[in-house]
Amino acid sequence: MSLRILHVAAEIYPLVKTGGLADVVAALPPALAARGLDVRVLLPGMPGILSGVIEQKRIIRFGPVFGAAIVTLRLGRLPDSGLPAYVIDAPFLYRRDGNPYLGPDGRDWRDNHRRFALLGWIATHLAGGELDRSWSPEVVHAHDWHAGLAPAYIAQNPALNTATVFTIHNLAFRGLFPLDHHGDLGLLISGPDQSALEFHGQLSFMKAALVHSKRINAVSPTYAREICTPEFGWGLDGLLRDRGGHLSGILNGVDYSVWNPATDPALPRNYSASNLRAKKVCKLRLQADLGFAGRSKAPLFAVVSRLTSQKGMDLILAALPELLAEGGQLVVIGSGDADIEAGFRVAAAAHPESISVHLGYDDALAHRMIAAADILFVPSRFEPCGLTQLYALRYGTLPLVRRVGGLADTVIDATPDNLRAGTANGFVFDDASSRALAARMADACALFRDGPAWRQLQRRGMAQDFSWADSAVRYEALYRSI
Ligand code: ADP
Ligand code: GLC
Repeated sequence: MSLRILHVAAEIYPLVKTGGLADVVAALPPALAARGLDVRVLLPGMPGILSGVIEQKRIIRFGPVFGAAIVTLRLGRLPDSGLPAYVIDAPFLYRRDGNPYLGPDGRDWRDNHRRFALLGWIATHLAGGELDRSWSPEVVHAHDWHAGLAPAYIAQNPALNTATVFTIHNLAFRGLFPLDHHGDLGLLISGPDQSALEFHGQLSFMKAALVHSKRINAVSPTYAREICTPEFGWGLDGLLRDRGGHLSGILNGVDYSVWNPATDPALPRNYSASNLRAKKVCKLRLQADLGFAGRSKAPLFAVVSRLTSQKGMDLILAALPELLAEGGQLVVIGSGDADIEAGFRVAAAAHPESISVHLGYDDALAHRMIAAADILFVPSRFEPCGLTQLYALRYGTLPLVRRVGGLADTVIDATPDNLRAGTANGFVFDDASSRALAARMADACALFRDGPAWRQLQRRGMAQDFSWADSAVRYEALYRSI
């Protein structure tokens, strides 16, 4: 009998996505299924999920629970992988358009604690076999704080011996709520259990998961180490150090059926390492569309990112004079903090021939930009894994990153030594300063002007394999260890 695993998460590409979490939740379960595991996914019924999961059949209907009068649990299949997916249809809690976590005013929905407690609660009752008599998981694998109460509910139910794994995608989002909301959650929060949920006078779904999961993993080995330090621990580093024996780091993979320049339907021309001239066509076409002077000799930089200080976007803004002085061009897609958005908007208005900014989310444009660019900026202050640098590598676009988290694990700096050894695949800097970024950018531009050396780096990156298969082996080993 194959091991039964339930993945619990709030988003999944392409149905609902705010970031890399959705990419991982779409790609890891099929990679595990390909290894013979019996994998299902549990998702909240946001509009994109309700309409995107195919062949849904009702399993059970019940209520009221967590403020929802009626909850219908359905089982369907994911549109791409065909994997079974449970959908929680709770109209009162989930049928809201737009961002899955924020209301139209840009603030967290006031009932987020109930909305995501329900997700963890359903996972627990699936584990208990009460909701679906024909299938129950042996391992519940919860992702980020949204699913963080699943391990807590399971741990508090003595009748269950379900194993739990919790993946930290971003510790900065701790799932904090006022302490007096605990009465809405149906969790014991007295005696020794209180400290398992309480975080400096608030409730933390993240902390609940870190305390109760049998195994914790972070999405890169370096991030797994970093979060045990005060600098990256968001106040949870002490707890993570205590649980160090149960904490590991497993690098995310890439879904090369979605991110492949040879087949990508978003590109004006497909290409591979043996046909880099077609990549230049992608560049010239984007430059023309943006109204840039279409100079293939100008280094084209791209940003595909949330525009936040986590992502070091202010460092790029401060280095724009140097970028322009190098004859560089910059195209940005993203959204985020108002001051960073405004900074890019002002820069694009002042230099329309060299800087273009698209504020918003556009999947196809993101693909076109990663294909067209010469260099992708990922100068993050912290980065649990980071996926765009991996996408860039496959597209022959060299990443310029800060040495943190998953960026440190995947990008090898083009130092003279690494160039000689043939290991370099991008550019790395250390200090979170625009000066350090600008210095590495100037080095990248110099190498860019040396065509053959550049192409060698491109080909190396394109040949690298960050597919999910290796990581799936590690996840399976983690499941089997518990
Ligand atoms: P994070 O999850 O921290 O935002 P990742 O690098 O792990 O960072 O994942 C970001 C994902 O979101 C990638 O798939 C990237 O291509 C995508 N993305 C980010 N911003 C945009 C945008 N504005 N439009 C389209 N895709 C975007
Ligand atoms: C988070 C992190 C990012 C990671 C993604 C997927 O959003 O910020 O670094 O790649 O999760 O694990």
